[in-house]
Amino acid sequence: MCGIIGYVGEKNASSVIIDGLKALEYRGYDSVGIAYHTCNRIEIIKAQGKIANLEKKLKKYIITHYGLGHTRWATHGKPDEKNAHPHRIGKFTIVHNGIIENYESLKQLLNGYKFKSETDSEVIAALLDKLYSEKNDILKVLVQVKKLLIGSYALGIICDDIKDTIYAIRKDSPLIVGINDGGNFIASDVPAILKYTNKYMLIGENEIAEISNKVKIYNDNLELVNKEIITFEGNIESAEKNGYEHFMLKEIHEEPEVIKKTIKPFLQFGLDSLKENMPDFSKYHKIEIIGCGSAYHAGLIGKHLIEKYGNIPVTVHIASEFRYQKVFTDEHTLVILISQSGETADTLASLRKVHGMGIDTLAIVNVVGSSLAREASKTIYIKAGPEISVATTKAYMAQITILSLIALNIGYTNKIISEKKALEIIDSYEKLPSYISNMINIDYKKIAKVLAKKNNCFYIGRGIDYALSMEGSLKLKEISYITSVAYPAGELKHGTISLIEKNTNVIAVITDKNIADKTINNIKEVKTRGATTIIITTDKIDNEFNPADYKIVIPTTNDFINPMVATIPLQLIGYETAKLKGCEIDTPKNLAKSVTVE
Ligand code: F6R
Repeated sequence: MCGIIGYVGEKNASSVIIDGLKALEYRGYDSVGIAYHTCNRIEIIKAQGKIANLEKKLKKYIITHYGLGHTRWATHGKPDEKNAHPHRIGKFTIVHNGIIENYESLKQLLNGYKFKSETDSEVIAALLDKLYSEKNDILKVLVQVKKLLIGSYALGIICDDIKDTIYAIRKDSPLIVGINDGGNFIASDVPAILKYTNKYMLIGENEIAEISNKVKIYNDNLELVNKEIITFEGNIESAEKNGYEHFMLKEIHEEPEVIKKTIKPFLQFGLDSLKENMPDFSKYHKIEIIGCGSAYHAGLIGKHLIEKYGNIPVTVHIASEFRYQKVFTDEHTLVILISQSGETADTLASLRKVHGMGIDTLAIVNVVGSSLAREASKTIYIKAGPEISVATTKAYMAQITILSLIALNIGYTNKIISEKKALEIIDSYEKLPSYISNMINIDYKKIAKVLAKKNNCFYIGRGIDYALSMEGSLKLKEISYITSVAYPAGELKHGTISLIEKNTNVIAVITDKNIADKTINNIKEVKTRGATTIIITTDKIDNEFNPADYKIVIPTTNDFINPMVATIPLQLIGYETAKLKGCEIDTPKNLAKSVTVE
């Protein structure tokens, strides 16, 4: 999604903004632009495509100390220069992330203004200019604009009359204020400012940020608000590749450490820490889990484990569907919302919908202080650190780790899992990072070669293995552009098997011993029809029977940690295939890291 960076300070604003834009690249974009103050005017430079195209257009020696930058992920209007931000009308220059739903009707109020772009954003600059010409008081204008705009926005604003200052407001789109001795920032997220500072503030939805050599935050009554300064715990390396060819590969290699950090608060003092640090689930008779994409897939893993070991019915919903469907909940329902970014528009809307009904919510989130984290009744942070690759890996891993701990906690509390068994399971979590490292060290290139030859692929599995297959299939398709479909293994012969022909690739995840032979039968069925078969299975199942052409064998563990061990091959098969095909792995086409629009 669009990225925003703004700077006011002693350094050359144009270089600081370009650094920030590069750090925002991972969010996904298709055009880019910068506005800076120089020689007593605002200069705007834009380019289609990558930041390198913008850099070629930038003048070498410019003196500038404040400005705004933007990476645009097209929604309204083509990804060309005319639609790229910043937009400037009258005395106002703006950058916008989000969607203004009432931009057409606002345009009707703005007779006399000429619009150059097809965007919903340009109208904001005109609106600011009109209101400012009437009131001549920027803060009052911003309060009024907030009331007039319908939709979502993070906005960086420069007014020609107010030098060395940028303004920012937000609703349903993230924006932070970075703080440093020599200069201050606005940014869509922390990586954009990390080269210069690790101190930042969160801007609330009812606030206005005024950034100059000081930072002032006002509420809607224009009273100054005292804000907490947060220190980002990671360092610049956590937002850089550190010698890895791609962020995705780096992030997969971080997974053993991520798991250690994620489980630590819950397991460091055994069952006591688990009970103390987990929310109390005893009141709930039903759980609804909501997420999008991989977060939804993580929810499906949670469903299998919580139902099996916690004996509570769990329904998993895709957030974009949930927000518009009829909901059956009562005071004994818990809604769990899963999101790496904590800003996904549909997941946030689902949270607000159930809150409106008075239902308890638990957010499982990576980004500290994100909207979901702030608005949910309770939050568990997954501690994956900044995830830059658009395709999630370590955050998904941490999400399923937390969900398996929730299942363990409910199972133990409800006495479905004995103390002895619970202690054995805790012990297995301690070994999990080394299992994960071993799986990372396996060579997946041979399988990638098989997959890269075809434009399509099937993933199959049953039960929790089907949930794992869905994530494996998503990883492959989103970064290698191979059409990949995940199917419940038993459902194939009800239609889809007609697509299987000579050399169709079928990947089966078979780790659940109880139903392994059923999926093995399905493998035989597709093999008979000419498919090339690849199995991800455990050493125990493999020893008994394995008819596949290729296999990845994972160690036999237990239901709680098996999903994490089985995830590594699924992620690395996707990665190696995309690499072999020469795809842009970290920033796949059309995708955005944080989907802050509907
Ligand atoms: C896939 C992927 C997406 C996200 C989805 C939800 O690799 O990253 O499917 O999982 O967009 O994003 P969050 O977790 O930020 O809500």
